[in-house]
Amino acid sequence: MSDLYSEVVRGSVTVWVFFSTLPLGKEVHILMASAIKIDGLTKKYIDVWQKQEVIAVNDLNLDVQEGEIFGFLGRNGAGKTTTIKMLLGLIFPTGGDATILGKPMGDNSVKQSLAYLPEETYFYDSMTGWDLIDYYGRLFKIPQPERARRVQQCLEKVRLQPDAWRRAVRGYSKGMRQRIGIAQALINDPKLLFLDEPTSGLDPIAHAELRDIVGSLKDEGKTVFLSSHQLADVELICSRIAIIHKGKLLTTGTIKELVEGERTEIVAQGSALHNGVFAKLKSIVPSVSIEGEDRVRLISTSAEEINAVIDLVRGAQGQIVAVVPQKRTLEDVFVETIRREEGEI
Ligand SMILES: Nc1ncnc2c1ncn2[C@@H]1O[C@H](COP(=O)(O)OP(=O)(O)OP(=O)(O)O)[C@@H](O)[C@H]1O
Ligand SMILES: [Mg+2]
Repeated sequence: MSDLYSEVVRGSVTVWVFFSTLPLGKEVHILMASAIKIDGLTKKYIDVWQKQEVIAVNDLNLDVQEGEIFGFLGRNGAGKTTTIKMLLGLIFPTGGDATILGKPMGDNSVKQSLAYLPEETYFYDSMTGWDLIDYYGRLFKIPQPERARRVQQCLEKVRLQPDAWRRAVRGYSKGMRQRIGIAQALINDPKLLFLDEPTSGLDPIAHAELRDIVGSLKDEGKTVFLSSHQLADVELICSRIAIIHKGKLLTTGTIKELVEGERTEIVAQGSALHNGVFAKLKSIVPSVSIEGEDRVRLISTSAEEINAVIDLVRGAQGQIVAVVPQKRTLEDVFVETIRREEGEI
């Protein structure tokens, strides 16, 4: 059994690395390619205590493009970690398949291109931070002096204070452990990173720093599959997301598509508007608020409503002052999507 594989089985933080440089001129093509293509992936567990089957991941289909930071969202127990472990080849699917960087899931050559930060990290904590990252560098057979250069680069990138580099990891705070976890995931310059909750349990400053570090990986051309409950982070750094619930995909799309929705605020004004026009506007759109004698602010939920409002206002010699698409936060989208699925709205 290779050193690399034994690390996987032991359940430690593990990185598979693959050195590659893209030929110049092929970048556009590469950016359009799928980094991950999931086709009907399913995982069933047998709950031995309850003597029943748990469908952790249920016929999941998903496409993640190379070069994007993809947010993989869902409530506790939704199936995120199970999906990541299947994609990494750490557990076997009950059904379905996936390709990772164009190769079948589980292909050993592909594993060398991947990095993984598990939600719970287990380190050899008697080692110093420096020695730990160096150890991962040695697993990937990075020769000196290149290895020392990379260890230093990774520790600097995750902004671990230099006075901690030579201290045993067992004395590290939660934030320092997260930083060392990300450093190990970067040691061999992987193309695709699976990060399972990289910013959980951190103070606000550490949180913002690590979020920005993850966000900066996109600028280096890396693909990140990010599982996170920190929706404001996801909104800031991800291009696209998926929401899963009880193992099933509920929605996927760009953040822009999802937060913009179909609500539009329209502001209109005109001295003739109060002559019965306000009442007619109320019959067209659900929300109308009258501001003074000649100004009205309303929310429309469809293109038909917008056009009807504009026709009415212009027909009454009024002016359209603003037409502004209303944005929701990703948290609004998440809560609404889950509540709709649960039949609560
Ligand atoms: N080894 C296992 N044996 C039995 N059931 C399991 C096992 N691992 C996960 N499950 C079940 O599969 C479902 C999905 O779990 P998973 O850990 O993938 O969720 P998650 O989305 O990562 O949740 P969290 O946000 O809490 O990390 C849960 O119902 C969980 O109890
Ligand atoms: Mg999880």
